[in-house]
Amino acid sequence: MTDRWKVELKSVDQLRRMRLAGLVVAKALAAMAEACRPGLTTAELDLLATEILARHRATSSFLGYAPDWGGQPYPGVVCVSINQEVVHGLPSPERVLAAGDLVSIDFGAVVDGWHGDAALTVEVGPVSPAAARLNQATRQALWAGLAAARLGGRVSDISAAVERSVRSQPERYGIVRDCTGHGIGSAMHQDPDVPNYGRPGRGPGVVEGLCLAIEPMLTLGSRRTTVLEDGWTLVTADGSWSAHWEHTMTVTKHGLWVLTALDGGEAELNRLGLPFGPLSD
Ligand code: MF3
Ligand code: CO
Repeated sequence: MTDRWKVELKSVDQLRRMRLAGLVVAKALAAMAEACRPGLTTAELDLLATEILARHRATSSFLGYAPDWGGQPYPGVVCVSINQEVVHGLPSPERVLAAGDLVSIDFGAVVDGWHGDAALTVEVGPVSPAAARLNQATRQALWAGLAAARLGGRVSDISAAVERSVRSQPERYGIVRDCTGHGIGSAMHQDPDVPNYGRPGRGPGVVEGLCLAIEPMLTLGSRRTTVLEDGWTLVTADGSWSAHWEHTMTVTKHGLWVLTALDGGEAELNRLGLPFGPLSD
């Protein structure tokens, strides 16, 4: 079953290295979220993240990344996607955060050859109630996906749980299909894809050593997207606002381990009544 996909299964030692990369990502995202305020430029967020990478002797998963759809290598260490931008927003000294913005920050770090990848969406000052609910629904969808991963299950169980979580919200949201979650390890993007919709019980088995980046992207309107002339920035086709949350995770025999959460996911997993399964921290 699993061998229909090229899935890189990590040893215990490799998982510990993935955790080190994940911790750098967690710290950088926390620092960037903290720094967000009206007047800050997205280039300043990129600089902050660059400093944090250097401090931890880590390198960027994103800088110089050559997209498989062609185009220019990625020019920054962080993606900052504001309002109707979904993902892959380019940092720029001209782009200034304003009160009311919904700012998605996506960041990846490499330690010793192993990658961590995560994203969060920051509300700059008070955002509209609809934007705040969108953000909350996206974060909830991520945790619903994480919660659906269990040894003996299949990868599409995660996809189905993300979709079910979104559909259970009182509001209707678009679920972006043009980007998916992904396997991750010695490269940022690996098999399998982890779509944010679909039927359960398909795809590779969830086994020890599997590492996935789960990343729902929701919109207030259509799920359709287009790419700006910069060749990178993915925006909603209808201009509706979007939110994005992502974690890199693995499942051990003890439970879930959220590699890009500062606490490994312990607090949220406890809240959800799910087993927390770090190898050692
Ligand atoms: N974190 C994004 C993802 O999960 C990748 C950013 S694209 C890059 O797919 F080019 F900036 F690396
Ligand atoms: Co990712």
